Amino acid sequence: MSRLTDRGYLRDDQYRDATNLRSRMTLHEHFSTNPYGWPRWVFDQFDIPPHGRVLELGCGPGALWIENLGRVPDGWRVTLSDLSPGMVEEARARLGSHPAFAAFEVADAQALPFVDAGFDAVVANHMLYHVPDRARALAEIRRVLRPGGRLYAATNGLGHMRELDDLGRRLAPDDYPEARDSRQALGFNLEQGGEELARVFTRVELRRYDDGLVVTEAAPLVDYLLSMGGMAGRRGLPRGAARARLIAAVREEIERAGAIRVTKSTGLFIAER
Ligand SMILES: C[S@@+](CC[C@H](N)C(=O)[O-])C[C@H]1O[C@@H](n2cnc3c(N)ncnc32)[C@H](O)[C@@H]1O
Repeated sequence: MSRLTDRGYLRDDQYRDATNLRSRMTLHEHFSTNPYGWPRWVFDQFDIPPHGRVLELGCGPGALWIENLGRVPDGWRVTLSDLSPGMVEEARARLGSHPAFAAFEVADAQALPFVDAGFDAVVANHMLYHVPDRARALAEIRRVLRPGGRLYAATNGLGHMRELDDLGRRLAPDDYPEARDSRQALGFNLEQGGEELARVFTRVELRRYDDGLVVTEAAPLVDYLLSMGGMAGRRGLPRGAARARLIAAVREEIERAGAIRVTKSTGLFIAER
């Protein structure tokens, strides 16, 4: 089984806590060409009634909400859930005192512990590609949405971060061999996700977020690569002296070219029940 959908690995290793995710967010936060910011843009796309009941699946440490906290209407009731208990605890620690956040639940998207038709909106932000049986998860999402309710499902396209994957393979060929291939194998991507959603939902729409990276510092880029190592099927890239060697090699590339430019391909499907 690919590690990308291996729930034991995802829950107990890759997403045991937010460390790996944070390395990746740091790179995006500091070097993205679009200054607007992904979390703010995602929130802009929501069309949720003033007393909306909202469920997020695979919420991670709650970054979407932290970045939009002042914009969450008082009347919303938001339930945050994730497969990883560590992520749920982190989200609770950061958002538990805010009145709109009604519940924090450990939940697998394939078997949701929620009643039928209980939500106006379900958010699945960069998480459906981790779910082994996506048809089952989509049926569950449909079940918990009220008629007319919407799924907001973000994912990446096939070319997302390809230069960075190439760099990882070139500089650390023994440790970063399969990441590119595993991205190519992303089951749920911008290219085919719409078709899959249209089997379960009506009015499926894709909105793309225009962005890229111009990276001028070596360490955040190397830490991003390190955070992906385990997902590529290995135990993880070497740390310590080997990390320092990688940083030196990336620094040379940056000095030679002025910066490392990376393609992003990312967007949001909106699908109605
Ligand atoms: C790439 S992270 C995205 C986190 C957050 N949505 C964000 O965008 O910052 C994927 C998240 O999905 C969670 N996840 C993976 N498989 C899952 C499943 N089957 N059901 C629910 N959550 C899952 C992981 O634990 C992780 O927190």
